[in-house]
Amino acid sequence: MNDPNRVLIFDTTLRDGEQSPGATLNLAEKLEIARQLARLGVDIIEAGFAIASPGDFEAVSRIAQEVGQLDQPPVIASLARCAKKDIEQAWSAVQWAKRPRIHTFLATSDIHLKYKLKISRNDCIEQVGEFVSYAKSFCDDVEFSPEDAGRSDPEFLWQVLSVAVQAGATTLNIPDTVGYCTPQEYGQLIEGIINNVPGIKAGKVIVSVHCHNDLGMATANTLAGIKAGARQAEVTINGIGERAGNTSLEEVVMALKTRPQFFGGLYTNIDTTQLVRTSKMVSSLTSIPVQPNKAIVGANAFAHEAGIHQDGMLKNPLTYEIMRPEDVGWNSTNLVLGKHSGRHAFADRLRQMGYDLNRDELDKAFERFKALCDKKKVVSDADIEALLTDQFESLGNDLFKLDELHVATGTGNTPVASVRLIDQDGERHEDAALGNGPVNAVCNCINRITGANAKLVEFHVHAVTEGIDAIAHVTIRVEMSDSEGKKYVFSGRSADTDTLVASGKAYLAAVNRGLQRTQLARRPVAESV
Ligand code: KIV
Ligand code: ZN
Repeated sequence: MNDPNRVLIFDTTLRDGEQSPGATLNLAEKLEIARQLARLGVDIIEAGFAIASPGDFEAVSRIAQEVGQLDQPPVIASLARCAKKDIEQAWSAVQWAKRPRIHTFLATSDIHLKYKLKISRNDCIEQVGEFVSYAKSFCDDVEFSPEDAGRSDPEFLWQVLSVAVQAGATTLNIPDTVGYCTPQEYGQLIEGIINNVPGIKAGKVIVSVHCHNDLGMATANTLAGIKAGARQAEVTINGIGERAGNTSLEEVVMALKTRPQFFGGLYTNIDTTQLVRTSKMVSSLTSIPVQPNKAIVGANAFAHEAGIHQDGMLKNPLTYEIMRPEDVGWNSTNLVLGKHSGRHAFADRLRQMGYDLNRDELDKAFERFKALCDKKKVVSDADIEALLTDQFESLGNDLFKLDELHVATGTGNTPVASVRLIDQDGERHEDAALGNGPVNAVCNCINRITGANAKLVEFHVHAVTEGIDAIAHVTIRVEMSDSEGKKYVFSGRSADTDTLVASGKAYLAAVNRGLQRTQLARRPVAESV
């Protein structure tokens, strides 16, 4: 039996988090994040939705084979609908882990039963019994989620959950799928489940909370559920996820740690000093920026601007600080590297930043680091993060690579870009295009060469560090349609000391993703899994 005070952290950054529009991660990026989640100390990694695409399947299997085989590894889970094929795929992918889990779900709210699934409550109960048993026939560790539990009739929910327990589920996860509940309601929902579903009070089954942030209450709801007796929290790094996102891991973990008396001594296994590092990695690999005022991991989370606050802080940090920045991993000593730094120092720095590169990746990163040192006197963590993001961005099987880019622009004339790309057979393709601005000219030119029908829908550029030699980090989202006119969003990013080069590379990365749509795209703009 688990320690009743231990709250398990189930991280779904790679599954629910990756459902954020345009956040698609490639295999190398997912592996890097999974390794960092293991270092952070999460108990369960939901590595993906194995049936969703061949890419998802491969990522879940590789994470199960690698991270799932560490000493004292986290549980590796895959999501599966209540369907044979889904469950079989989930099992094929997670079976390599020392501690595999199948997480299956079926909606239980009347709205979902009537309009989405078009089945009756009885059908729903039957399917839950059948498919939880089917999952159990492969895997001892089965989690069941009644989707849209937050809007389901509680008594019907108890019935469904009891059937799931009888069929072998050992974790019951209660999603507030559309972020509808208030903390009081959600706490009562969890309490009702604990009191009315056999097996929970005896400690045979764990209740889990899973909240969405549509009304900004995900963290509050999650904590209310934990206070009511849930002992697993499903969360994502930086709270990323579909629509307004999921509950953020760092907020829940730090609330429990900072308010032990209020939460009656509940604790997690998270190494909180890894929080900022993990947040930065996820932000840079998904291209989803962290808002500066984001709790715990936002750039301003520990910044004190008002004079009266600064005065208090100087007298005693306890006046305005309820957590110490170093406890969540804000390190004050951000050592810089430069052209005299060797491979060893560079590799060491990467490890400290949470990156675990293989030999080839390290060679490539070191080469780029050295090239950067020729342009920049000092190279900070932020520069290295940008450099790695750029390196991971290449899928390894890109249809086109940027070979050359020139732009002529200025006052009084129309910007013109000329671009040369190299395809997978090594053939060169060149063209030139005009644009209403230099970036637009580059994008038009890439469209002409690749034949992509891409439309730029978002463009962000930020200087990674201060100073004239700062690297420009560009994030781009493009919209592309398939042959049936369905629209998809793809993101790309790049970093370079030249903003236009970074823009061209980022745009091409997004277009490459789009062109490989059959493999990667699962989510039309106006649709979700
Ligand atoms: O929000 C939700 O309902 C989910 C389930 C699939 C667990 O993510
Ligand atoms: Zn969810």
